[in-house]
Amino acid sequence: METKKILVTGAVGQIGSELTVDLRKRYGNDSIVAGYHKKKPTAMLLNGPSELVDVTKKESIERVVETYDIDTVYHMAAVLSAVGEKNPSLAWGVNMNGLYNILEVAREHKMTRVFCPSSIAVFGPETPKEKTPQETVLRPRTMYGVTKVAGEMLCDYYFRKFGVDVRGLRYPGIISSETLPGGGTTDYAVEIFYEAVKNKKYTCFVKKGTVLPMMYMPDCIKATIELMNAPLSSLRHHSDFNITAMSFSAGELAEEIKKHIPDFVCEYRPDFRQDIAESWPRTIDDSAARKEWGWKPDYDLPAMTADMLEKLKKRYEEGKL
Ligand code: SER
Repeated sequence: METKKILVTGAVGQIGSELTVDLRKRYGNDSIVAGYHKKKPTAMLLNGPSELVDVTKKESIERVVETYDIDTVYHMAAVLSAVGEKNPSLAWGVNMNGLYNILEVAREHKMTRVFCPSSIAVFGPETPKEKTPQETVLRPRTMYGVTKVAGEMLCDYYFRKFGVDVRGLRYPGIISSETLPGGGTTDYAVEIFYEAVKNKKYTCFVKKGTVLPMMYMPDCIKATIELMNAPLSSLRHHSDFNITAMSFSAGELAEEIKKHIPDFVCEYRPDFRQDIAESWPRTIDDSAARKEWGWKPDYDLPAMTADMLEKLKKRYEEGKL
């Protein structure tokens, strides 16, 4: 695919920030516009263009798309599950109206390709919890999940009806060392590392035995870009690929961290996010992604933990954490 100009919405967020850096390395700094909204771009994003983009306002997207002649969008701006339960109307506004606006602008400007993430939050209590199949029951209990199911369907509708080549992955919890996640249920799997390095203790907001599917950021970026670069003819699915790298309980994660920081102590005080976590799968069958575009993760729990701790310890020693 010949990529001219890419817009990343939500570029200041957990995934958007590292995705923008990676895309700039691949395609050149000036080819990638970092779209931000509430938070201004951080230092890691200052080596290329950045623009204010309010996805709930179509004209705000259009202005940037026309100024930079954008032909590809990675639409990462979204309200996550925990914030969405506190403010369902905000989640609907940003996740649904925002996506609708992006798809409309993509259709009108005949864009080459759009990426829109989905999530394990599309699943619900009636979905099989182990090796959750690609095609299964989608009856989420969170507003975030509702917007992700509707979003997958809207994306597929735009593909079939208007030929907009929009693709997406059902991300599991994403663990990363550069930018903190912004209000999801899987945030404990990131916070635990920061607290282990800084204070050697963490109070976890889900129970010790809670198992969720997870992925380390380098795999998340790899999956996202590989799907976007896959030939259209090889894809049978488009916006709803199951994808995973590892599954572990909160207690297993704490034990893995203890192998590196022996005096680390983790306590468990579940809050409202426990119910959300329990409504999601424990393990995922991602064979469609493996078959259709060759998905294969690089990081398991021990490799991810070792790399996270190495990166965060270094930043802590430099006084940057
Ligand atoms: N990490 C997200 C959340 O917890 C799931 O997609 O909301």
